[in-house]
Amino acid sequence: MQHSKLTRRRFMLAGGAAMGVLAAPAAIQAAPVRKRVAALANIRVGEPVAFTYPDDEPAFLVDLGRPQLGGAGPKRSLVAYSALCQHMGCPVNFDARTGHFVCPCHASRFDPARNGDALEGPSTRGLPRIHLRVDGDAVYAVGVADGLVYGRACNHT
Ligand code: FES
Repeated sequence: MQHSKLTRRRFMLAGGAAMGVLAAPAAIQAAPVRKRVAALANIRVGEPVAFTYPDDEPAFLVDLGRPQLGGAGPKRSLVAYSALCQHMGCPVNFDARTGHFVCPCHASRFDPARNGDALEGPSTRGLPRIHLRVDGDAVYAVGVADGLVYGRACNHT
């Protein structure tokens, strides 16, 4: 009888250890992605820099030329957004004339100076904002601030 209890206890301990081993990679996979976007020296006001984030999804960094709430860089003027429209996932374009992102599929407009909010529909949701950090002479994307990148169940990898 004693042998049976020890066996069961050992089994439970071994199972717990195995769960810990299995859980560790999942925790690592859930971490936000850190990805180099551009060298600071190569960023120009009003000229968006295309990159992908968190995996292959298109995104834009824009220097708006004036401080932004949560902006990055020496002037706090750098912002970034997922470029996938929240209506049906078309990649948006940057309209240099208005400074807005415009969806070519159904004409939704988004304002990068207002947290990516939708100015005109049919999209009712803004573009998910991407957190930026400056490290040395480069800008890095380090996470998604709010909302899900279109088509994803999780913004992490
Ligand atoms: Fe962008 Fe419809 S997919 S407005």
